[in-house]
Amino acid sequence: MTIAIRSSEPTKEATLRFLAKTAKKLLIDGQWVDAASGATFTTCDPATGKVLAELSSADAADVDVAVSAARKAFESDAWRGMTPSARGKLLWRIADLIEANVDELAELETLDQGKSLKTGRFGEIPASAEQFRYYAGFATKILGTTIPTSIGYQPAGKKIFVYTTREPIGVVAAITPWNSPMLMAAMKLAPALAAGCTIVLKPAEETSLTTLRLGELMMEAGLPAGVVNILTGFGETVGAALTAHPGVDKVAFTGSTEVGKMIVGAARGNLKKLTLELGGKSPAIVMPDADFALAIPGIARGIFANGGQVCVAGSRVYAHHSVYARLVEGLAAEAAKLKLGHGLDPETDLGPLVNRKQADRVASYVSEGRGNGAQVVTGGGQMGDLQTFYQPTVVIDVRQDMRMMREEIFGPVVAVTPFHDVEEALSFANDSPYGLAASLWTSDLSSAHRISTQIRSGTVWINCHSYFSPELPKGGHKESGWGYENGAQGLENYLETKTVCALV
Ligand code: NAI
Ligand code: MG
Repeated sequence: MTIAIRSSEPTKEATLRFLAKTAKKLLIDGQWVDAASGATFTTCDPATGKVLAELSSADAADVDVAVSAARKAFESDAWRGMTPSARGKLLWRIADLIEANVDELAELETLDQGKSLKTGRFGEIPASAEQFRYYAGFATKILGTTIPTSIGYQPAGKKIFVYTTREPIGVVAAITPWNSPMLMAAMKLAPALAAGCTIVLKPAEETSLTTLRLGELMMEAGLPAGVVNILTGFGETVGAALTAHPGVDKVAFTGSTEVGKMIVGAARGNLKKLTLELGGKSPAIVMPDADFALAIPGIARGIFANGGQVCVAGSRVYAHHSVYARLVEGLAAEAAKLKLGHGLDPETDLGPLVNRKQADRVASYVSEGRGNGAQVVTGGGQMGDLQTFYQPTVVIDVRQDMRMMREEIFGPVVAVTPFHDVEEALSFANDSPYGLAASLWTSDLSSAHRISTQIRSGTVWINCHSYFSPELPKGGHKESGWGYENGAQGLENYLETKTVCALV
């Protein structure tokens, strides 16, 4: 099956200028430099296979230099001595620059990742700017406490005065995935910078371009040298070296549960603090009284947006048997409406998946499911000359023990299953090693709040799915991760408490 690629060329001068620059370099200590080894790799447009840029391939030697630069910056007067107000303004300037360059950043993201232009232009790129704005306000509001103490063994006539301070944790290694590259970088950089940390950031090897452009914008905003360093390269080289490096105090990671578990091992040497945002297999529960005008498009968006390459994608739908047939039919109709094409084509709803490997992976889940009795209602095809596209797909007759029901597919594939009562719906929903998110569709808000207490997941949406904003904490229960990003809690990831206890 083929896909007609109608338009695949960027239209913005700035995008062309950025792409035309020769090999992209690493950002270390405020300078753009080649990898010590001189090695490079290429990144390409997953829809056309066209090479977009040559990138520097960092390894352990570059990690040493970047971590030293981050440590030096962490201790420097330029950064440690910067007032909270100046730090806040710096974050705000980064947000302004992202917005000023939104068209270029959106085109770069589409070219490199495949996503539709509207997803980046009106969703993820403005949302990245909002991350910086939200945390800019926190820089001036990082407060300690004074604590009245009941210690009773002080010498006569002496008092005890106790206070706490909140201090930046130090050098942070941030490792991001390929599904929403710019937004994932912003979700880590903004709170880390607000807290006063310094960072070595490694974007996913598949999608580094917007992170490199963000590096340029951060330097333009006036970030002191070494505060943010960017190392492009592979997970098993740069990623592994960063997570094991004794000079790194904390790792903030988003990606697969498998790599998350490897990072737990790698971080053991100096007991790095960890935040892990890992995989999911998020259920959507549809009650008989659901408002279908909300539920059908909402559930469709929850699984098909960004080609299902979303950690909270609602990939398992459990519908009450009385509305099951209607829901399957409605979802299939929504799926069939979506236009596949090059992300830069304004008509496109779904671009290619990030690469052939991911599309093959998605296809293998569906063909295995079919082999085990699952029925494909719509979609089910891998497409395009490069086989990087996957049709939005609705599958039924998927048993709880099947791999496509248990593992994260990370593609536009949803399994729909009927249930008979709430207990059964909850037992299906909770029958997963993951616990990232869930949605509940009902007009009975009182029972919705009660049911939400029984779902084991970091987020429960009621009558919506995949609603995000920087002020909403986001994290995984069970094997979906450790810690929370966003909200006031997101800042805590980058702070330590010091208790100062004085005899006065
Ligand atoms: P991955 O977990 O390997 O990649 C995520 C990031 O981790 C990338 O920057 C990668 O370079 C880095 N990385 C890889 N190995 C590493 C290591 N040993 N040490 C440190 N960093 C390392 O994800 P992958 O292999 O690209 O995708 C496989 C599956 O993982 C997907 O199909 C999807 O199911 C899941 N995934 C989930 C994501 C989420 O947001 N929940 C994001 C990306 C992938
Ligand atoms: Mg991998």
